[in-house]
Amino acid sequence: MQPVDLSQYPRVVFFTGAGLSAESGMPTYRGSGGIWQQYHYREFACQDAFDRDPSKVQEFHEIRRAKALACEPHAGHRHIAVLQGAHRRIDVITQNIDGMLQRAGVRVGAELHGSLWRVRCACGIRQEDAAAAYAARICMRCKQPVRPDIVWFEDRVNEGVFMHAAEMVGNADVFIGVGTSGAVWPAAGFAEQARRSGARMIEINPEENEASRLYGEHLRLPASRAIPEWFPATR
Ligand code: OAD
Repeated sequence: MQPVDLSQYPRVVFFTGAGLSAESGMPTYRGSGGIWQQYHYREFACQDAFDRDPSKVQEFHEIRRAKALACEPHAGHRHIAVLQGAHRRIDVITQNIDGMLQRAGVRVGAELHGSLWRVRCACGIRQEDAAAAYAARICMRCKQPVRPDIVWFEDRVNEGVFMHAAEMVGNADVFIGVGTSGAVWPAAGFAEQARRSGARMIEINPEENEASRLYGEHLRLPASRAIPEWFPATR
């Protein structure tokens, strides 16, 4: 495979997963050292766990927020921002909740799994909350505990966000999957959707997984190298 001039394509989608931030120091979810090896989602990442013990779940997410703030975006995150500056039709759909893309200056089109940096309440309030410790652990309006505005196990993906992402995928001429195991639905369906609609399919992942078969080209490299080296910015 030769380096790809993305400006030759009308619409490009980067579809990112936890592996994108691995080199910044954020652990991925699956595989050795993955978050779900260390913590069971039933205790920390589902609505039932939150209803049983909101403080425990809030504390778990505060640890993750502190971890994210101690990490910096790397050359791969930053290069996506450079590409967007050079070529406006680059859409980014992310499963990452860590905010690293946004800190690198990337315009994120769809945060499929929400954000560590927002909270919401059952009463409908949703607000930005950007420090390691939550500004408030209970809702100002109804005094119930606030939960992170992320998609936990057994939660539904926000329908509007999903539809917007599906539209971007349907229009993609190139679909670049970065650092995702392709194991979590409905996000995992995007690679199949893009392949069926005829996009050029490029995977960036040092390791092969079950979703790799959906891609025609594979960069078995870490994201911090693959993105700047294989997608040079042109004007
Ligand atoms: P996973 O942890 O399932 O997969 C991470 C992928 O990144 C693996 O395929 C690794 O091989 C790859 N990887 C590791 N280091 C890399 C590097 N330096 N460069 C490129 N790739 C690398 O993460 P996701 O696919 O994002 O949901 O998982 C999907 C969802 O499952 C997450 O969004 C999360 C989790 O439950 C929520 O938090 C809501």
